Amino acid sequence: MSHFFASIVPWFIAAAPSRRLRCVTLSVAFLSVVTLAAAAQTPAGADLERLANGVRVHRGDQTMEITTLRDDVIRVRSWQGTSEPENSSWAVLPEALRSTGQATPEPAGFSTGKLHVALGPGLMFTVTDNIGNILEQDAEPMVCRGTDFRIYKHRTRDDHFFGLGDKPGPLDRSGEAFTLWNTDQFGWQESTDPIYKSIPFFLDVRQGRTLGVFFNNTFRSFFDFGREKADEYSFGSVDGPADYFLLYGPTPKQVLSDYAWLTGPTPLPPLWSLGFQQSRYTYSPESELVEVDHRLRADKIPTDVLWLDIHFQKNNMPFTIDPECFPNFPQLVKNLAADQFHLVVITDLHIARQPGIGYDPYDSGVAGDHFLKMPDGSTYVGTVWPGPAVFPDFTQQRSLAWWGSLYKPFIAEGIAGFWNDMNEPAVFNTPTKTMPDDVQHRIDMPGLLKRTTDHREIHNVYGMLNSEGTYDGMLAARPNERPFVMTRASFAGGQRYAVTWTGDNSSTWNHLRMTMPQLMNLGLSGFSMAGADVGGFAGSPPADLLTKWLEVSAFQPIDRDHSAKGTRRHEVWVDGPAQEAIRRHFIEERYRLLPYLYTTTEHTAHDGVPMMRPLFVEFPEATTDGHPFDLEAGGSEFLVGPDLLVAPNPSPEEIAPYEVHLPPGTWYDYWTGERFERAAKIATRDLEQRDQLHSVQPLMITPTLDALPVYVHGGSIVPIEPLTQSTEETPKGPLTLRVYPATDRTTPCTGEVYADDGHSFNFRQGDYARVNFSCALQQDGSMTFTVAPQQGRFHPWWTEYRLEIYGWTPTRHTASTDSSKLPLTAAGSAWTVSFPAKPNGGTVQIQ
Ligand code: NOJ
Repeated sequence: MSHFFASIVPWFIAAAPSRRLRCVTLSVAFLSVVTLAAAAQTPAGADLERLANGVRVHRGDQTMEITTLRDDVIRVRSWQGTSEPENSSWAVLPEALRSTGQATPEPAGFSTGKLHVALGPGLMFTVTDNIGNILEQDAEPMVCRGTDFRIYKHRTRDDHFFGLGDKPGPLDRSGEAFTLWNTDQFGWQESTDPIYKSIPFFLDVRQGRTLGVFFNNTFRSFFDFGREKADEYSFGSVDGPADYFLLYGPTPKQVLSDYAWLTGPTPLPPLWSLGFQQSRYTYSPESELVEVDHRLRADKIPTDVLWLDIHFQKNNMPFTIDPECFPNFPQLVKNLAADQFHLVVITDLHIARQPGIGYDPYDSGVAGDHFLKMPDGSTYVGTVWPGPAVFPDFTQQRSLAWWGSLYKPFIAEGIAGFWNDMNEPAVFNTPTKTMPDDVQHRIDMPGLLKRTTDHREIHNVYGMLNSEGTYDGMLAARPNERPFVMTRASFAGGQRYAVTWTGDNSSTWNHLRMTMPQLMNLGLSGFSMAGADVGGFAGSPPADLLTKWLEVSAFQPIDRDHSAKGTRRHEVWVDGPAQEAIRRHFIEERYRLLPYLYTTTEHTAHDGVPMMRPLFVEFPEATTDGHPFDLEAGGSEFLVGPDLLVAPNPSPEEIAPYEVHLPPGTWYDYWTGERFERAAKIATRDLEQRDQLHSVQPLMITPTLDALPVYVHGGSIVPIEPLTQSTEETPKGPLTLRVYPATDRTTPCTGEVYADDGHSFNFRQGDYARVNFSCALQQDGSMTFTVAPQQGRFHPWWTEYRLEIYGWTPTRHTASTDSSKLPLTAAGSAWTVSFPAKPNGGTVQIQ
């Protein structure tokens, strides 16, 4: 019995009967522990009901249901009383929620083909894989205290936890405890909790086997990864359903793909959102924005997006434009577009309470009864940027549609995307920073029971619903354009509607360091398209910090420079030509890499594996005992897509040399093409081989201002395009394919490029191009490079391929296709050969 359990005894007995409960009362729990102690693996004393897809166990008036949705996904629900709770979710897709797998009865439970569920005493259970490895095991019966409940699982010292959204702190969440309650946290720091998002999903990596846990509960909830008790991890909530899903790997990639199946992947973004983005709170008046436009182009800083923050609005009222500062907004948007910029503007959700002045969002919202109310029926009013404001009731489908309709005029003017800020929701002048718990939400949505609930249940999904309304509104206005929405608050599943950023970070070296674990954990939580304010929001970055930040962010999914009002300006040029040249160089590299980055986002849209990923995701077998390789690498190294490894200084302000740990295999320096052997790539679990891996010494890097170590994995082919100043510009020249052979001659190298029009949904009708490449080293020392026939009917911009082959030396210095000889040229450390790109593909022999 946990000490928590003991401490609540007197209170619990008094409170339990009158509250909604989802687990056994204290006396029954005692009974179950005592009477079932001798019952080994069977749920003695409990009444077992077998279902086609699992089991229901009844004990007293307590029911626990464990079902399989598919072989690798299990759902667990508990409730008290005879009526089953509402089977719904704000996060899980309806198809996933409805899906049902086949359970094969076993004496103590059931199996799914991949997993075994064995019931034990006290309505506890264990999940194992087919060879008996324990993946998850209850540590004690679920503990209840009125509506409050907590689920306890065994934790071993081999468990490592990842995910849980935007929580700051180390990559591995072991030993930490967190609260999920969306909160406006200006200037948050490393140990601040909670912050903006609530993503109740985590991965548990234990001895190389990964299990995902998604907790389907929107109330204020709690996660403890061994902080209270070293041998337990737990999660629970103050109310709502005891309902969670277990997603089995064993690989991390499989769990990420299961989670994408459950809650939806990050969809394919518009190509321009991968470009560099310049923002500030606020470029106003309009001339300031125009100056930024001109300077970016004059200084040749490739950029795709400019942002307008709240001061472009009249008196900070959402969906207005200040006519004094922005006298000719439509023309401004046109001029920016002519300079190949996309404009994103902020549209906060607090609608100014301004009756009688012709402010349509307020008037139409009142007329349609779209605003949140208090229990006495009055409209809830809270103070935010525009002063007293009212808030949409996004839990009503019709109000969501009304919200979306507000975007129509802006979209008609050519605004490319929208920024949903302050949607925790933030409310000023209250100790809680948000609206009162008793604000009423009238749920009226497909898939959910029509009912009124209070803010405690909706708070954590409010921001996500805000972005859903925005996304749907954009889609309604431009049905064949991929919407671009950025949200600050969200919930699990929110990746379907919006990209995100880490809110009001600070201009410090530590905040630069923190972007790595934070963005990786966001990616593991479904939000692949995420960024941090480059340079830091609060405060003014010294020149070197801004430069270093711009270097690293060039390899992160969203690369947006943003800063608070009253701070020093942050644009790329502000610290003089020497710093600007370094910064430009890295942004240019991002633009060259766009084919690789875009191809990666297209994969994410299918498999849920984020663009920015920890090393253990690609190399789950890189350590002897299966612990995540990232722990050796210190949590700063990250992968961009499958093949690029970025190794920023884990102490970015220091000038002392630092270690870079590369997973086993062959690696190349991205900048020079130099090749490193990091022991033989392992394909087995052979312990001896693995031990050898650990004799590999880390690389020692001496940091310099103008360098960021980046490596490419041997066996990959990376597509690179000629530099442009914006994704609107068509690249001129060949598509370069950088070829990095693997160590082992029998391992082919492979790569891919995906292209489409970059903005519409035409790819769904086959209007895309996907080309796979491979290279094979032959016995006679030659290389065969193969271009597979193009899939899809899109005509990409390139008509020629240019191979750049690293780490390999031809013997005869010749290259040819079936029909012609091709010039093979040495260029630096590479050999290059060019040939026409044909839809049917072809081969090139190089020797
Ligand atoms: C808070 C946001 O986090 C920040 O990015 C923005 O600049 C301000 N609100 C003003 O809109």
